[in-house]
Amino acid sequence: MSKKMKRRDFIRNGAVAGLVVATPKALRGQSPAVITKGTARPVVISSANGNKFKNGGEMTCVQKAFTLMMGGSDVLDALIAGVNIVELDPLDDSVGYGGLPNAEGVVQLDSSCMHGPKKRAGAVASLEGVRTPSLVAKAVMEQTDHHLLVGRGAQEFARGMGFKIEEDLNTEHSRQLWLEWKRRTDPSHYLDPAKRAEVWRREGLKMVAEGLIREEHFYGTINCDGVNTRGEICGVTTTSGLAWKIPGRVGDSPILGAGLYVDGAVGAAGSTGRGEANLYNLCSFLIVEEMRRGRSPKDAGMEALRRIKANTVEKRLLNSRGLPSFGINFYAINARGEHAGVTMYPGAQYAICTEQGPQTLPCEALLTGKPTD
Ligand code: GLY
Repeated sequence: MSKKMKRRDFIRNGAVAGLVVATPKALRGQSPAVITKGTARPVVISSANGNKFKNGGEMTCVQKAFTLMMGGSDVLDALIAGVNIVELDPLDDSVGYGGLPNAEGVVQLDSSCMHGPKKRAGAVASLEGVRTPSLVAKAVMEQTDHHLLVGRGAQEFARGMGFKIEEDLNTEHSRQLWLEWKRRTDPSHYLDPAKRAEVWRREGLKMVAEGLIREEHFYGTINCDGVNTRGEICGVTTTSGLAWKIPGRVGDSPILGAGLYVDGAVGAAGSTGRGEANLYNLCSFLIVEEMRRGRSPKDAGMEALRRIKANTVEKRLLNSRGLPSFGINFYAINARGEHAGVTMYPGAQYAICTEQGPQTLPCEALLTGKPTD
């Protein structure tokens, strides 16, 4: 057997045994991709809303997930129990119940989840009537041979699994905001479709600029990822998607590799922000692959942002500086429990919970200024 083969076997066997493996020559000076089992620094990270909303309870998403994970719960169960708080809280109008509806005033939800150790995944898209799409995504993962159910099929599946189906997931708040947007964009119903699409986007962004909708809620989402002391990694992403979207529009959140990607031996990444930019570049997959090649979570995330910037060429998506005119954020952890939040422009934050408790930290930005500059 050649020297090369022996080295490959060593790496493979090391990975199976959970040993620290030698770093390939090309990556010397960077981190190895696989770590010793039992030496991970346990952590849960999420978008900033994961350390904000409590749905009237005591704990935020990251606190709840970390507490359950450290108590021995399955990592994915713990993360989903965390994001359920945000999905159910009507005050977060970017996720679950009370999420901003589509152009017809209907709340349509997307979610995905991935289980690192089990190497399983599930997702739902354009799901109506269920407040906790993350739990339906998990049921897809556990109860079916499929990875993604959409629309009516996803709802019928949820009904069959015993989920309560509600007629309408709007709150008074989300309905009033939708009415305001309708009033602004479609007073006569007679705009031609191209103009209307332009007005939809412009008026939505104006409502953000006027402070009616928080910027992060326009494309709002929660992504939450965790690693326990055994180095077991999972992730979940859940959202009501782009505010006032065309009915049936599916964003990045339920798409494996885009809104979420987990590799049980490497790490996890997820996203919030303009889903279309992420879908085109499959950035969560890219980030995990960059971490596999030895990059830190921050450097891997920055690579994804650079990819998006390079692939954003349409004038309507560029600001006066020729840079992307939208926000997008990534959250990443590796199997050692190192983590990062990165963002296209300064201002975004991310949440973490470790043994030191919950914290909200600034995301590292690729560019300066604002998307609208
Ligand atoms: N990132 C959420 C969405 O675009 O739907």
